[in-house]
Amino acid sequence: MVTLTEPRVLQKLDGPPWDIDAYLKVGGYEAWKKCVRELSPEQVVQELKASGLRGRGGAGFPTGVKWDKVLNHRVKEHYFVCNAGEHEPGTFKDRHLLKTAPHQLIEGCLIASHTAQAKASFIYVNHEYEEERENLKRALAQAKERGFVGKNILGSGIDIDLQVFEGHGSYVAGEETAMLESMQGRPAMPRQKPPFYPTDFGLYGKPTLVNNVETLCNIPRILYKGAQWFTQVGTEKCPGTMMFSLSGAVNRPGVYEMPMGITIRQLIETCGGGVPGGRKIKAVFPGGPAFSMITADQLDLAMDFDSLKKAGTGLGSAGVIVVDDATCMVRQTLKFSNFFKGESCGQCPPCRMGTINLANLMTKIEAGEGTQKDLDSLLQLCGFVKGTGYCTLVTGASVLVQSSVKLFRHEFEEHIRLHRCPYPAAPVDTTV
Ligand code: NAI
Repeated sequence: MVTLTEPRVLQKLDGPPWDIDAYLKVGGYEAWKKCVRELSPEQVVQELKASGLRGRGGAGFPTGVKWDKVLNHRVKEHYFVCNAGEHEPGTFKDRHLLKTAPHQLIEGCLIASHTAQAKASFIYVNHEYEEERENLKRALAQAKERGFVGKNILGSGIDIDLQVFEGHGSYVAGEETAMLESMQGRPAMPRQKPPFYPTDFGLYGKPTLVNNVETLCNIPRILYKGAQWFTQVGTEKCPGTMMFSLSGAVNRPGVYEMPMGITIRQLIETCGGGVPGGRKIKAVFPGGPAFSMITADQLDLAMDFDSLKKAGTGLGSAGVIVVDDATCMVRQTLKFSNFFKGESCGQCPPCRMGTINLANLMTKIEAGEGTQKDLDSLLQLCGFVKGTGYCTLVTGASVLVQSSVKLFRHEFEEHIRLHRCPYPAAPVDTTV
């Protein structure tokens, strides 16, 4: 049984989340005051590096290193953007944080903006998160009223105008370079990276600090309590906690803050209350549909960036989707293949054609109209398109299919042999 008391990132508030007084009672805005009055941006970066915090948007890049790059860039016009463009199937933790911890996010944004010496600062929120955006705006208005945001913050001479930006509601628009493009009024299409990351070439072509919501919510706590405090939980290389979005075949789906390195089994049993109806686990997507699945014999794997990478999959943004033994894996895979097809921005031909053809072949096989040759073509296509494209969308789409065929090939072959799905009929849900 894993329980979590402290250290934890998410604060229990005695009042509604947008109420600044409830946040002030738990030490809210203390870290920001410290930054305004005592700490230099360099000291903030040092503390972040000492904490070992890694980005919670999906890739686990060291946060202190990223902040350092922007702060010390030779070009002096900088920008800051909080990426709340979350749109991955099975990931809803940023939404939860926008809803439950708007002040903590605002405080993290203020610290980031000041440390990066940003000329302008934005919180880019997924267009579909309407209620959360309003919640955030309400909290921001209160923070402005109390002098934490705006001109001459707390009499320090520091000015920060933090703005909420209503973004797209698409998957690709959550990719940071596509997000920056769309913020400049252009189509939400990713730019090629590397070699130019937003730290060098971001908003208006200037060095830009882009961080995920959860990453930013960690910042006030680290600076208030200290790096040492933060490293008390988690693993050596992935300290701290993670907000796990748990969905699929569990009794209690939801968002759970747990230490990095918790096992998949602990997460499913302790937080999720196990699988409903006494059914068995067939597979788990530990990091959403763009990373390889794991099977029931791998439930003791640790949930952190390095352990899952070593096991041939990934943590991503910790959108954990549990699949039970009553599920047809071909149908499940088709559902996500259709998602990727629908979300490709169409900019890169291998992605545009690849996602369409993968979904078409998957549709044919799921309907019982596929042949062995189609299965071979499916895998061949995955090999062709994987790693192409400016962003990772088509790679995710091929990893999904490769992983499904590798682990559940017999189910694909059964569809081909029987000319139908062996599982009870259910319409294919193309909305994820
Ligand atoms: P990435 O590995 O290219 O970059 C991660 C972050 O580190 C980015 O902010 C990037 O700018 C920065 N970075 C990397 N190398 C750098 C360098 N040398 N110098 C400066 N900055 C550097 O990963 P990417 O493509 O940004 O994100 C992919 C992840 O996003 C996937 O793991 C996926 O799970 C996740 N994802 C999350 C979604 C969500 O809704 N939260 C949606 C879709 C994908």
